[in-house]
Amino acid sequence: MKAKVIKNIRVNDKYGYMIIESKELSSSSEAGKFFMLSPRINNITNSDPLINRAFAIADVFHNDTILFIYQIVGRVTTILTTVKEGDELNVVGALGTKFTICESKNVALVAGGVGIAPMIILGKKLRSQGNKVTLFYGGGSSKDILPLDILSGSYDNIEISTDDGSVGCKGLVTKLLLASNEKFDHIYTCGSTGMLSAVVKTVLSIDDGIDIEVSMEAKMGCGIGACLGCLIPTIDKNGTIANRRCCVEGPIFDGKTILFERLV
Ligand SMILES: Cc1cc2nc3c(=O)[nH]c(=O)nc-3n(C[C@H](O)[C@H](O)[C@H](O)COP(=O)(O)OP(=O)(O)OC[C@H]3O[C@@H](n4cnc5c(N)ncnc54)[C@H](O)[C@@H]3O)c2cc1C
Ligand code: FES
Repeated sequence: MKAKVIKNIRVNDKYGYMIIESKELSSSSEAGKFFMLSPRINNITNSDPLINRAFAIADVFHNDTILFIYQIVGRVTTILTTVKEGDELNVVGALGTKFTICESKNVALVAGGVGIAPMIILGKKLRSQGNKVTLFYGGGSSKDILPLDILSGSYDNIEISTDDGSVGCKGLVTKLLLASNEKFDHIYTCGSTGMLSAVVKTVLSIDDGIDIEVSMEAKMGCGIGACLGCLIPTIDKNGTIANRRCCVEGPIFDGKTILFERLV
């Protein structure tokens, strides 16, 4: 499907925001789901690369526009920086599973770097359901922490950490979680696989009764369950081990079912 780009803003040398317009796509956009964005702009065939890339839904405005946040790491995200207002982008979605929206609970969202993207819409949705929402947001340095205006309205509290201490508390985001006096009922997390593994371990060490949902990252070929390129090793409560497709059975998984030792 084609969607018109109505904004593409470079935040710094690492991140950009893009807003596309589509009533139809907005109606299927829920917290946790993602779109495959194509590097083909204005229908110009671009064979380098051929494969679309996954981007989380960061927010939906007025039921007709969708926000994406991209970290410039390679070919497609570099192409995305060249997109202009009014350009048309090929998009597929919304795809994948969504986060559970609990009601009237004390919840924490733990985001690492560009893992903040799905946490924006998630925080808003959770607050609208009467939850108290704390965001723990970590990055390598201040450049990895997005301007806080984009986060306004999504959280009751925000705590920040950076590896180099250039903004917020110095150290890993799990340090914030451990230092918190709050008793959380449910934790949601998105970031690198290493960070997700550390967050799940930390939560289990605090209280293994806390529910924890993770948004997993995997290299995706098709995004629709056909290529098996995005398998995540999991174990269920009965001890059954199975590979699950991140694009269809995920990207949102019960964090306690992921066999991180097979991934990192
Ligand atoms: C469900 C899902 C949702 C996602 N949501 C977002 C999102 O909202 N915003 C976003 O920016 N990305 C998101 N990603 C990751 C994004 O799809 C990849 O980063 C994508 O590969 C970038 O395409 P590229 O062509 O620019 O880089 P590629 O050519 O694919 O990669 C270039 C190089 O960068 C490395 N690389 C790839 N990803 C990362 C990374 N995250 N951090 C550091 N190095 C990396 C690769 O290993 C490779 O060496 C998501 C992934 C999944 C599975
Ligand atoms: S990306 Fe093809 S099966 Fe998941």
